[in-house]
Amino acid sequence: MARLIELTLNGRRRIDAVPDNLLLLDYLREQAGLTGTKTGCDGGECGACTVLVDDFPRLACLTLAATVSGRRIDTIEALGEAGALSAVQRGFHERLGSQCGYCTPGFVMACAGLLRRNPQPSPDEIRAALGSNICRCTGYVKIIEAVEFASDLLAQGGTAP
Ligand code: FES
Ligand code: FES
Repeated sequence: MARLIELTLNGRRRIDAVPDNLLLLDYLREQAGLTGTKTGCDGGECGACTVLVDDFPRLACLTLAATVSGRRIDTIEALGEAGALSAVQRGFHERLGSQCGYCTPGFVMACAGLLRRNPQPSPDEIRAALGSNICRCTGYVKIIEAVEFASDLLAQGGTAP
């Protein structure tokens, strides 16, 4: 069976017909054409598919698209503008927070959600917020430094997370 969902995706209202069993991850990548959200483990273990639902991280591989009707969804494509990185994107760039980059969209969205909710998190709060994301390339120190860099940018009146 299919149903209509109405949501705000990266700042734009959308109405789509989706099968009841369509995963949010597949809706985003295949129906909305937003391929920045990655499929990793496809089982709730890695965090590569992390998107924001009303500013809170959500694993898109474990979420049915039908359950986010009426909500505000942000994917990695929502961040920054042409020629201007968001604070978190700058942090990852400046602090070398990614290597192969496959996990990066999920990490960046988890970080952006944290800084939207709490622009000045403590190191423990950063570590807790990233507890559902796994990187197989980097140590996590650079990623935590990237969040701290972004947090400092925001404190200086910088760009949105
Ligand atoms: S792909 Fe969703 S948690 Fe790994
Ligand atoms: S940068 Fe390669 S998996 Fe994280």
